[in-house]
Amino acid sequence: MSTTPNTQASDHPAAAQAPSCKVSASPHDAPASPPGKRPAPPCTLVIFGAGGDLTKRLLMPALYNLAVDGLLDGAMKIIGVNHGERETPEWREELHKSLQQFAADKASTFHAGKLDDQAWDWVAQRLEYMAGEFESDDTFAKLKQKLAQSPGGNVIFYLAVGSRFFKPIVEHLGKAGLLKEGGGSDGGGFRRLVIEKPFGTDLASARDLNAHILSYAKEEQVYRIDHFLGKDTVQSILAVRFANALFEPVWRREYIDSVQITAAETIGVEGRGKFYEQTGAFRDMVPNHLFQLLGMVAMEPPNSFDAEAVRDKKAEIFDAIRPLTPDDVVFGQYEKGPAGVGYREEPDVAPGSTTETYAAARVFVENWRWAGVPFYLRTGKRLAARRTEISVQLKPVPFRLFRDTPVDALTPNVLTLRIDPAHGTSFDFNVKTPGPVMQIGAVQSSFDYADFFAASANVGYETLLYDCMLGDETLFQRADSIETSWCAVDDVLHPKGGGAMPVHGYAAGSEGPAQADALLARDGHAWRPLNRNPVGKK
Ligand code: BG6
Repeated sequence: MSTTPNTQASDHPAAAQAPSCKVSASPHDAPASPPGKRPAPPCTLVIFGAGGDLTKRLLMPALYNLAVDGLLDGAMKIIGVNHGERETPEWREELHKSLQQFAADKASTFHAGKLDDQAWDWVAQRLEYMAGEFESDDTFAKLKQKLAQSPGGNVIFYLAVGSRFFKPIVEHLGKAGLLKEGGGSDGGGFRRLVIEKPFGTDLASARDLNAHILSYAKEEQVYRIDHFLGKDTVQSILAVRFANALFEPVWRREYIDSVQITAAETIGVEGRGKFYEQTGAFRDMVPNHLFQLLGMVAMEPPNSFDAEAVRDKKAEIFDAIRPLTPDDVVFGQYEKGPAGVGYREEPDVAPGSTTETYAAARVFVENWRWAGVPFYLRTGKRLAARRTEISVQLKPVPFRLFRDTPVDALTPNVLTLRIDPAHGTSFDFNVKTPGPVMQIGAVQSSFDYADFFAASANVGYETLLYDCMLGDETLFQRADSIETSWCAVDDVLHPKGGGAMPVHGYAAGSEGPAQADALLARDGHAWRPLNRNPVGKK
């Protein structure tokens, strides 16, 4: 979330030669940066897991989009490390093909239409493949030689690998001296580590992983990714809250009744059965993505957008979460239903699996602003609709005024921040219906990004990569927040007295298990239906 001032594209030599947007004159010239943005400093990006899905689906499209926008430095290099011999041209070709496929596929996150050949060439020229095992000394010795010429001595190590490789890679990097900063000719030169999720599987493993990493690198070198924070609509939560006089005065327990945070998916486990069997919906989504959304909704206003100011305020929220008990949580697993087969029939899933594909939780933030306001979180696969959103429900108004009218109920005011796949906000409120009698009608006012802003090609990793190059850690998770988040859910993962959480069935394509409805009904609440029409539009 860079808020750095415009240093003008003209101080970027390549940009000066290519004043028109999008395409540069030669593959070595970057296009001009958009106003208010400057190209990132030169660096080498080392991607461990060069042959993996994340690299193909998200990192390469994001690098391509950054190149199209002129936000990468002309001297940048990208080294892809993976086991398996391949020549650089072969890797480039592989990436080019997959990029073309995704660009043409409307269902893909990267549906850029036709690829811009010159922008792709610009990226391709900077790609180099290096074969190497992630746990072998040779790999890191070879890498060290290559990195001796890294522009400005700056290097980012991106761990796009299975989590079992996090520790060995960091250890090898540390022992090979590759995390030592200041190696550039001018005494500068940063070394940064980007770590994907899952960051641990519980409190103990997250602590252990943090301790391991921090024995080789300083906290400010570590960029722990939660890709939800790369979404514009998530970053916009702070803008909606803090750039408008309307919302913040009511953003507290005196006015807010409850908050629902939903990340519902229609897809199943999509060939990730092996990973999912070990992880489950709760670990996969709750203490990370959903807590991050909760943090953005609940945090106090920071004094600035300085990374530490923002992260301190978020850390306070995670710290204030009342530890969840098994009673606050419902687990579900999809069974055969209108949307397809049951989870247990998916490839790489045990026939008697008890892994949850749905999780709902009731969370309380025990601080002055939020005491007593329930935050209801839910996530799941194969649900009735794809919907990632936050609904903030306000308390009812005193009803007295309407006592002698035909009005017998008022619809609560709800502000919904729509994150995916719809991007925007909506607000449910009440008006008088036309006619001579005082009748109240529930209506909805909504805003869609697409109605106001040109669509920008974005797979969600652009800002994260760019911020990492600039050294802006605002959108990355700090060690303390990771640990307090895991701490808040530890009693659910390891229930006192042993045993495991019960897992309730729900039909594939449904709203989720009935027990999740009961969780809210206990407090006199109900989930907002996943499958719903806008208010008033039947
Ligand atoms: C990932 C989870 O972190 O987030 C996936 O591992 C999930 O299981 C995905 O599908 C959801 O992200 P998005 O951006 O598609 O909502």
